Amino acid sequence: MVGMEEGRAVLEAGGSALDAAEAVVRVVEDNPEDHTVGYGGYPNIVGQVELDAAVMIGATRQAGAVAGLRGVRHPVSVARLVLEQLPHVLLVGEGAMRFAAECGAETRDMLTPEADAVYRKGLHRLPDFDPAGPLAEAVSELVVDPDHVTGTVNVIARDGQGRLVTVTSTSGWAWKYPGRAGDTGLIGAGNYCDDRYGAAACTGWGELAIRGALAHSVVQAMKYGHDVAAACHDSLADLPAAAGIPQGVDTPINVIAVDAAGGHAAYSTSPTARYAYWDGDLAEPEARPRTIV
Ligand code: GLY
Repeated sequence: MVGMEEGRAVLEAGGSALDAAEAVVRVVEDNPEDHTVGYGGYPNIVGQVELDAAVMIGATRQAGAVAGLRGVRHPVSVARLVLEQLPHVLLVGEGAMRFAAECGAETRDMLTPEADAVYRKGLHRLPDFDPAGPLAEAVSELVVDPDHVTGTVNVIARDGQGRLVTVTSTSGWAWKYPGRAGDTGLIGAGNYCDDRYGAAACTGWGELAIRGALAHSVVQAMKYGHDVAAACHDSLADLPAAAGIPQGVDTPINVIAVDAAGGHAAYSTSPTARYAYWDGDLAEPEARPRTIV
């Protein structure tokens, strides 16, 4: 439950859902033990840590996002600056890095020795691998490793004024193709937020969340009258089959959602998945099991 205390402190002090959710994610981005987010994230197939993040505000449906960002300590804060300072939603690669530098975002070498060791261990399975050569075959070989290809942090916060915000951040799949953007930086796939109906955010196999426009589907289901649990269940159950994904590869998907009144649900296709929850009636944030689809 890394970061939950920091988010709680913002809300208890009367702060906004946006500040609370960003505070949670910034702590996760600094945690070297989380190899799917920020500092310590696993690198892509050529050894670079590439980061995606997004922010969406439910009151106005404004959004900001980055994908393929390198060498920046807090991608989530750059995504927030895209929302606040640009007439755009998504910046990628060199443009995202240029904007981060323009905003004075803190830089950092995001590759840790631990993440680098896992990256190199994977490459041992490909003795002829040449990072300057074709990469597609190597990516397909390594993506079958179930322990290293999925993960993300996603946060939904609802503040004292009932304002909803979704925030996501990830380093994406280990050994991904350079430039691969997952669901995390894509509004409607990895997160979606509309104060009239609710908010949703996803982790797991991002390609499926993109193909199913998963976060938007959940909020859309609430719009058309599903309660928050049914919206999560039906949207997950309706995801496209794993066509095109190498045989035998596990494709877990997790979704959390909050409705406009503050009711919530957390669903997963993985039997061990949990989520962190806190509201003003709880002394401490709690780790809870998800409902399995
Ligand atoms: N859900 C994170 C990713 O697929 O990159």
